[in-house]
Amino acid sequence: MESMMGHGTSAKPLSEQVYSYLWTRIQRGEWREHQKLPSVRTLAAELDVHRLTVFKAYQRLKDEKKVYVKDKSGYYVHPGGRLPFDDLEYPIVSSYVQNSHLSEIHRVPAAYQFSYALLDPNLLPNRYFSAYVKDIFDRYPKVLGTYSTVQGDEELREALAGFFARHHRLHLPADSILITTGSQQAIDLIARVLVQPMDAVLIERPTYSAAIDIFRQQGAQLLPVEIHPFGYDLEQIESYMKRYKPRLFYLNPTFHNPTGYTVPAIQRKQLVELAERYRCFLIEDDPFHDIYFAQQPPAPLYSYSTEGYAAYIRSFSKYVAPGLRIAAVCMQPALMKHLLAVKSLADNGSPLLNQKIFLHYFTSDRLVQHMEKLRIALNVRKSIMEEEMSTTTWKWKSPEGGFNLWVKLPDTVPMDVLLAESIEQSISFVPGAICDPLKESRSWMRLSYSYINEKQLRDGMRLLIQLAGQLEGRNS
Ligand SMILES: Cc1ncc(COP(=O)(O)O)c(C=O)c1O
Repeated sequence: MESMMGHGTSAKPLSEQVYSYLWTRIQRGEWREHQKLPSVRTLAAELDVHRLTVFKAYQRLKDEKKVYVKDKSGYYVHPGGRLPFDDLEYPIVSSYVQNSHLSEIHRVPAAYQFSYALLDPNLLPNRYFSAYVKDIFDRYPKVLGTYSTVQGDEELREALAGFFARHHRLHLPADSILITTGSQQAIDLIARVLVQPMDAVLIERPTYSAAIDIFRQQGAQLLPVEIHPFGYDLEQIESYMKRYKPRLFYLNPTFHNPTGYTVPAIQRKQLVELAERYRCFLIEDDPFHDIYFAQQPPAPLYSYSTEGYAAYIRSFSKYVAPGLRIAAVCMQPALMKHLLAVKSLADNGSPLLNQKIFLHYFTSDRLVQHMEKLRIALNVRKSIMEEEMSTTTWKWKSPEGGFNLWVKLPDTVPMDVLLAESIEQSISFVPGAICDPLKESRSWMRLSYSYINEKQLRDGMRLLIQLAGQLEGRNS
């Protein structure tokens, strides 16, 4: 019975399992609106459970207006039971392979590169890295002859546990931490563990586009939650949690990609309470936490979690050493064991050499000094971009950290034409639709100020503004 009902760890009463089973099939569209459902007797025989169990499940579906009863005839699908947003006709095809639209844009060579949310390599202390690498070989002469453990180097996990305790009051044992090959791998592994085809997944709108692809690839039905400069509409989130029982909410609440918005502390706490009440996992992706310009952002949601309905993904790609591909995932042991199983299938552990190099640079004084300079340099670059845009009617909210500006252009500028013409002029940016689970946001674009230097930024922005102005003129 359990395997038919989905997540094998369930200790739910049988009637609830039957309820979930029926509800999933209704949402999946296996029975159309107003179509008759199998009788209590048939279903009880099919699932090998008591008729009363099936009856209870049907009663709950009826109370929640997901099915209705016709006298002496049986149960029928109530209209409007399917998830309202995801427009994919059938996302659960095992061979379903998602296109990564972002990586297509990144493949286009551009002198004025506004599409990379990556640090300019010139802002890293490159000269010193070779000394760190040599030091690692002196300290660990056999480092290349050894695998890491699947969970990640213990010395590194201990150091990260200390870092999280000092910076976020997060007191975790090192075995609640898993080292992954970047946070993208972490999202993918978590999706594999938690998401089954047709599960509802809450996702911010807009969001990190690769996450859309990962959850879709897993067959999830996405329920977009708007992110605003003030955070989320928590009432909307609660109503989604109540109605659609989403498996998880993937969120990036700090200097969010692509908007740069930060969810305030009070909402973080409330969100954790909601997640615990409705048993929806919060998957907090936090790669920009340390990239603040003036004030530190609020503590991660994970620090409010007490019941284990949260996981915390912290990538260090954005400022330590992107090429090392190191991220950490924090979660409760009960989930960690499943994550370790999929991590071992994926790559049997991230490379030990990378972890050791990362560890020694991450814990050095040089990184602390470097961060101070980096924050100033990025803030200057952001100001240049904003200064150039101040001559336009474009709209954006100035972020207090991160790499990106989320910019609204006049509706008369067709974004696809602007992108095509920009690419011809060696300018690249991310059109908003790529970051939107609904593929709309057509007047929006993400401009990253992190990758190119001040002069390129100014020149590129002037060209881009000129191109957009010409298009606006042609269309108005
Ligand atoms: C929100 C978010 N999550 C994850 C990633 C992937 O980062 P990593 O290099 O750690 O895989 C990015 C990179 O842009 C990102 O912006």
